[in-house]
Amino acid sequence: MTAPAITRLTDPHLYSHGDPHATWARLRRECPVSWQDEPDHEPFWAVTTYDEGLAVLSDWKRFSSAKGTFLRPNLSDPYPGAGVMMTLSDPPRHDVLRKAAAALFTPKAAAGFRGRATEVSRSLLRGVVDAGPHDFVNDVAAPYPLQVIAGLLGVEGEDVERVAAYAEAAVGNIVDLDGTAAQQAHLEVLAYYAEVIEERRARPTGDVVSAFVLAQADGLDITDDEIILTCDNLAVAAGETTRQVLSGGLLALLADPAQLDALRSGTVPLKSAIEELVRWTAPVTHLMRTAVADTPLGGVEIKAGQAVSVWLSSLNRDENVFDRPMELRLDRSPNRHVSFGGGRHFCIGAPLARLMIRVFLEETMRSVARIEQVGEPRRTPSYVTNSLEYLPLAFYSE
Ligand code: HEM
Repeated sequence: MTAPAITRLTDPHLYSHGDPHATWARLRRECPVSWQDEPDHEPFWAVTTYDEGLAVLSDWKRFSSAKGTFLRPNLSDPYPGAGVMMTLSDPPRHDVLRKAAAALFTPKAAAGFRGRATEVSRSLLRGVVDAGPHDFVNDVAAPYPLQVIAGLLGVEGEDVERVAAYAEAAVGNIVDLDGTAAQQAHLEVLAYYAEVIEERRARPTGDVVSAFVLAQADGLDITDDEIILTCDNLAVAAGETTRQVLSGGLLALLADPAQLDALRSGTVPLKSAIEELVRWTAPVTHLMRTAVADTPLGGVEIKAGQAVSVWLSSLNRDENVFDRPMELRLDRSPNRHVSFGGGRHFCIGAPLARLMIRVFLEETMRSVARIEQVGEPRRTPSYVTNSLEYLPLAFYSE
């Protein structure tokens, strides 16, 4: 007997073993803004089409970030940092917090990370090239972004590994909300940042902690705990997403050797290839907002206080916006993907993410002649991050 199709959007197995793209395609066709009332989860709206989804993300007056930005089973439970942290706030507070950090995330600032990204790429690749099979996710893709940006987050030396371990555990936390290992790691990182704040207050550097400590001294209404939550959130926001473009992107390229050849030969521009890999992998599966007032959307009436989820992975495959969306086309142009979100909260780290992906691809093409997939990958059972948890590969220099 064939197993029944898994169609509940909150069922983690849909993402590890099912076909969420089939589910989203059906919702786009039949019910772009659908009411989902699923067992063990508070009900919510699911927006799966591009125009409606972007309308939600672009309109903070109707759809607020202040009560959380991801679905969770008990939406009414208080959420740490809600209403005060950058990602969990609306203007005017959001504008002030974003401004305090903005100078560290400009395209020019991102370009300053090229040297560090090259150094980290080379070191990680040296560890796996001609060294037999490895798990690309845990050996390369996961440590890469965290090692590149650790300094920006105020993490130094040996502590990089500790913070990276937390970011790892945080994903476990998303999958298993009671994970004690995750909670323990989290507490350690929070204590770590509390120390860094004190040090930066005495001697500011060019990192995010210093930017917020200086803004605090200038009168910004932000507590130490909120600075800590912001840094903590950044490690996850940067690490868990960028790694997925590398691992999910490489898997997609291995399945389509003609595209990989085109990338190697320079037939397709790296710039458009990066955007297509970001569209294809869509590392953040959905974002959530809360309706501020009763409001119409896509033919339905949303009530004040209801949760509205926008499925970025589905928006990126909307047939009305993307030509042959289910095909990976590295030369896709235009490519108006929403993997970095939309509206005021558009990913502040996008220039840095693009730079890290670019450098990693350049270095891989320079030092790896052949890549073999040596086993079956495993996808993460999560409706928040669209990611691989295991990808066995072998890299050869000739
Ligand atoms: C491919 C990699 C990445 C993807 C796909 C991604 C995706 C996203 C998305 C979808 C949002 C919007 C959240 C919302 O609207 O609620 C966002 C916001 C954010 N991202 Fe990224 N991100 C990536 C890399 C990074 C990096 C490298 C950093 C930092 C070094 C970063 C830091 C942030 C921050 C701080 C926000 C919140 C911005 C705000 O609330 O104004 N991200 N990201």
